[in-house]
Amino acid sequence: MTALQKLYEGKAKILYATADPTILLACYKDDATAFNAQKRGTIAGKGRINCTMSEHLFRKLEAAGVPTHFVDCPAPNEMHVRALTIVPLEVIVRNFAAGSLCKQTGIALGTPLDPPLIEFCYKNDEFGDPLVTEGRIYAMKLATPAQVREITELTQRINEILRDFFQQCDIILVDFKIEFGIDSGGRIVLGDEISPDTCRLWDAKETDPIARVLDKDRFRQDLGNVEGAYQRVLEKVLAN
Ligand code: C5P
Repeated sequence: MTALQKLYEGKAKILYATADPTILLACYKDDATAFNAQKRGTIAGKGRINCTMSEHLFRKLEAAGVPTHFVDCPAPNEMHVRALTIVPLEVIVRNFAAGSLCKQTGIALGTPLDPPLIEFCYKNDEFGDPLVTEGRIYAMKLATPAQVREITELTQRINEILRDFFQQCDIILVDFKIEFGIDSGGRIVLGDEISPDTCRLWDAKETDPIARVLDKDRFRQDLGNVEGAYQRVLEKVLAN
């Protein structure tokens, strides 16, 4: 087999070109970073777990009519995806208060947010992915008002689908980050991944504030048993 051309290496994935210019190969890595890559480490099996979980959730979302970049998985840590022009926004959905929201506002950890809070960050490592207002999005020409409207509507649907699904898994979907891109037909499509790296997930049957954490906060906050938590999430997801 001829070596595939590496197009981009990110913190969690490597993207390769394929023989079809409209399709890329995403290889999910075990490398873990947090706090804008100031903290680095490895989570054994993470690439396989995040890829497999993303595949499962992308399939569920597609079945519910949400367009995604997912094509297929040729290996447990590899995903063929449609090539997209990335919209440089990180879309964050919060069903309960946690993380930067608590830190920046003083809202208590675990406070329910109804309606869920949808926030936009400018996807740019140099600036540390800052929170942006809609006004800033237009001033910086990151997206048009019509695109922001469509992304918001898609995000609300994605949250409803994922929240219901995780509830079946006895997992609380606290918050998550998603990204969108534009495909060759001009459609706005869900990209990137949905995994314990990009979601806060709490075990619904566990009240202990440390034991309930099943996501990357175990790595960020050195809570231990990161691999075990990721594996548990995958098992629950695949069983539902
Ligand atoms: O850090 P913060 O509380 O704003 O994160 C909200 C959610 O977005 C968390 O689930 C976190 O894992 C996710 N996130 C992410 N990538 C980032 C920033 C946040 O996956 N660059």
